[in-house]
Amino acid sequence: MEILKKTFQILPKEFRFSLILIFFSSLLVVVLEIFSIALILPLVTVLVNPSGLGFLNKYFDFEKLISGLSQNEIIIYGISLFLIIIFCKIIALILLNIYKTNFYFHVKVKMTKILFNKYLNESYLFHIYNNTSVLITNIHGEIGLFVKKILNIFAEIFLDVILFFLLLAILLNIRLFETLLAISLFIIFLLFYYFLIKKRLDFWGKERQKKDRLRLKHTQQSLTGIKDLKIYLKEKFFEKILINIVEKRENIAKKVAYIAPLPRYLLEVGTAALILIFAIFFTRTENFSQSLPEFALYFASFLRMLPIFVKLFNNFQTIKLGVPIVETLHTEFTRKSDVGEKEQKNIKTNQMNFTKSIKFQNVGFRYPNKDATILKNIDLEFNQGKIIGIVGSTGSGKTTFLNLLTGLIQPTEGKIFCDLIDINQQSLEWKKKISYVTQKTFLIDDTIKNNIIFGEAEQFNSAKLDNSLKLSNLEKFIGDLPKGIETIVGESGTQLSGGQIQRISIARALYNSPEILIFDEATNSLDEKTEKSIISEIFNLKGKCTIFLVTHNKNLTVNCDEKYSVENKNIIKI
Ligand SMILES: Nc1ncnc2c1ncn2[C@@H]1O[C@H](COP(=O)(O)OP(=O)(O)OP(=O)(O)O)[C@@H](O)[C@H]1O
Ligand SMILES: [Mg+2]
Repeated sequence: MEILKKTFQILPKEFRFSLILIFFSSLLVVVLEIFSIALILPLVTVLVNPSGLGFLNKYFDFEKLISGLSQNEIIIYGISLFLIIIFCKIIALILLNIYKTNFYFHVKVKMTKILFNKYLNESYLFHIYNNTSVLITNIHGEIGLFVKKILNIFAEIFLDVILFFLLLAILLNIRLFETLLAISLFIIFLLFYYFLIKKRLDFWGKERQKKDRLRLKHTQQSLTGIKDLKIYLKEKFFEKILINIVEKRENIAKKVAYIAPLPRYLLEVGTAALILIFAIFFTRTENFSQSLPEFALYFASFLRMLPIFVKLFNNFQTIKLGVPIVETLHTEFTRKSDVGEKEQKNIKTNQMNFTKSIKFQNVGFRYPNKDATILKNIDLEFNQGKIIGIVGSTGSGKTTFLNLLTGLIQPTEGKIFCDLIDINQQSLEWKKKISYVTQKTFLIDDTIKNNIIFGEAEQFNSAKLDNSLKLSNLEKFIGDLPKGIETIVGESGTQLSGGQIQRISIARALYNSPEILIFDEATNSLDEKTEKSIISEIFNLKGKCTIFLVTHNKNLTVNCDEKYSVENKNIIKI
């Protein structure tokens, strides 16, 4: 029940009604199904014993209905009715299937959209502490399984329960005692079986999920780290680990597949035995030819009930295995994001002006779950339009400082102001002013042009693009390429040199015409001449924008207006 509630909570609101609609339409199919089964009794009766339908008068005015019809006509009409009902049932099933398929399609697309959007809007820290393989598995694995296994089954399971009870009613109506006996035997048997495998199902469900994540993580890191694998001849080592994970994962699937048909086989044997017992009952106690129609209906219902029983049980098993899927998605869909950016997108933000300075007021930062403070008591003011050079030994906290400055991470103490506005209260407006060339450059597997304009395909400005190419010293390189700016860079820029990648990142930063330009070791892959040339171009932007330059190269900071050093968790003016 808990899992049903959670399933409903995960399902986007607009689909909840559809699920109920599916349920009621399926109910119609069930009614037709029951009718087609219930018709067997009168049909067989007419065939065997034409006058045996008298008992129907109990339910409605049957005699009036058939008065004036010959026995043959009754048979023909009866069979025709049977056919019509089956025909209606098939039409209803086809329509229902189309509706259901569409429903699952829309649910899947919508859920993927919601979750992807949620992850994209999570804070940078969230992404630091969550492995991408888990997030990818959630988006592309668990949602699919949720729709295919959980939703699909819930849509069916209620119907099967209803159908089961209706059939049971028919059976009980015909033979109370024997039916009760048979059903209780089945239930006892299944409960016994269930308790036997319950723990296993819980365990397999969790393991399956873990192994899926691990499998993706391992494949991903082996392939992205292929260069190091090759250098250190570790292909075999990584292959072994992956195969080990895949084997364990498939072993679970294998075991589930082993036990899946077990209830069916066991129930079939049980049914055969029961038919035998019942046949003995029927033949012994009554005139067999008279009770044949009843016997036929009884077993038609019984045989129809059997697969439902088995299906119910298997679906139950699948849901049990799917508990971790629902749990995970429930956590993900109901989790409150730790940044307010999404909300900010929906409200009209105040215009944020940067005319005076950026002020750090007693700022400190510590990574969550880590005791060590990285930066503390930073009280600084950076004036608009200046070029600020920042140096410091490796690991001292330069990148952390820039991340704070850009609002990627929030101070654990103190505040950062742009003029008089707290940047973290208006982080969207703030980020619009900034271009940040990070230490680990990132390129999408697309053309050079698309890497520079980065998501503005339709309305890009070619003058701005040309200017950014010039400033970042890319003109000659691109001019020499047969496809020019339309050249594909490869995954993470693998078809380019380190310096070319870096210059494309610089061009991306400049294309935005930022008010604040931040370089984190952004020229360290370039030769001295190119580096100088780019830096002097950048310095020409003085006055138009405020520049932060983090570098290990002291020569580059010579012309900066102000110089700072990051040391002992502080930032000192030098
Ligand atoms: N996510 C994290 N969790 C915990 N500690 C971290 C995390 N990221 C960085 N650190 C630590 O914070 C300190 C400062 O890191 P930072 O990247 O700011 O250094 P840096 O000055 O930019 O160094 P480099 O010159 O090598 O780029 C380092 O000691 C680093 O180990
Ligand atoms: Mg750094």
